[in-house]
Amino acid sequence: VRAVLAERRVPISSDADVVAARHEGRVLAGRLPFSRTDLTLVTTAISEVARNIIEHAGSGEIAVRVVQDGERTGVEVVAEDHGPGIPDPALALRDGWSSGGGLGLGLPGCRRLMAEFHLDTEVGRGTLVTMRKWCEA
Ligand SMILES: Nc1ncnc2c1ncn2[C@@H]1O[C@H](COP(=O)(O)OP(=O)(O)O)[C@@H](O)[C@H]1O
Ligand SMILES: [Mg+2]
Repeated sequence: VRAVLAERRVPISSDADVVAARHEGRVLAGRLPFSRTDLTLVTTAISEVARNIIEHAGSGEIAVRVVQDGERTGVEVVAEDHGPGIPDPALALRDGWSSGGGLGLGLPGCRRLMAEFHLDTEVGRGTLVTMRKWCEA
């Protein structure tokens, strides 16, 4: 990603923070010519990674950015925590797999909803999820 045109950061530790992160995502992505459907997909993905921070890591942060890469502009969502990390990331990306009582659709859902999805995690260090969705020029 070549240029960051705007950024909002939201610390995540409570349900109210999930709402705030969704809101920031909608405001920033709303500056771009996304369809209403795409805006909803972006805010849904933000909710899922924010809930994962609360449920599986305790606290963390979400950054939402308007980014430009050549002719493309888009939205980038980065969810970061210093929680326990994920021992088996491939398993965590499988539909329906949850270490707790969850539906296990959050991470695989985000991967489907966003054009780019990267999961970077290490046990004992934390988890970084980077997702992007582009508006073609
Ligand atoms: N930020 C995180 N920190 C630690 N583990 C996580 C995190 N996000 C996801 N996980 C792990 O990946 C699994 C799958 O996540 P997800 O698909 O959102 O399902 P769910 O949250 O319903 O369990 C979780 O059950 C959890 O074990
Ligand atoms: Mg989840």
